[in-house]
Amino acid sequence: MSVTTLVFDAYGTLFDIAAPARRAAATRPDLAPIWPKLSEDWRRKQLEYTWLRSITGAYADFAQVTADALDWAMEAQHLTDPALRRDLLALYDALDAFPEVPETLRLMTSRGLHLAILSNGTPAMLASAQAAAGLTGLIDTTLSVESVRIYKPHASVYALVEAQIGAPPHEVLFVSSNGWDIAGAARFGFRTAWVNRSAAPQDRLPDGPLHEIPDLTHLPRLIV
Ligand code: LAC
Repeated sequence: MSVTTLVFDAYGTLFDIAAPARRAAATRPDLAPIWPKLSEDWRRKQLEYTWLRSITGAYADFAQVTADALDWAMEAQHLTDPALRRDLLALYDALDAFPEVPETLRLMTSRGLHLAILSNGTPAMLASAQAAAGLTGLIDTTLSVESVRIYKPHASVYALVEAQIGAPPHEVLFVSSNGWDIAGAARFGFRTAWVNRSAAPQDRLPDGPLHEIPDLTHLPRLIV
């Protein structure tokens, strides 16, 4: 049975999550030496909080988790500027897509595939990011963990694809830049493509990626 449905992770896969800190640093010289660390801490804490909130049953939505993680990352850099916090969160709602994304999405749609996002983001965050990045109308279905109130890689999140689109797992190619997300999706039964933009080592988890690609331009050759 061939692939009928492409399911994309959002943050880091379609959208460039380093853009907010990088952009803020362009107008704030004090951020120039620290923005990569600020951005990395922000992402790492954001993910840790999703896992910890899932394990402990203390769900809060991704907007809350993202703001909490930013507060931790700013404090770690001794940054106490409320305007900077506001600017970074606003930039997170208006992320850039990686350059190859719009054309790749159009190409995959022209091949008759159903395109979906499956993300930790809230519906509002995902709508805002798609609009800001010029992707509105290029994705058929946007699925958010909000409907199950637990984060990836919990199986009930991946189950949203069949429940809401009707595509059984073996017809799905799941595309993510996160190794842990790929491991969860593969364990669930999806085919997987790991977008390894930074040439990172593979996670030491069961259920590694079926495919590994450096960016989305390599996606068409995976669909035969
Ligand atoms: C998402 C995060 C995990 O979009 O990147 O779900």
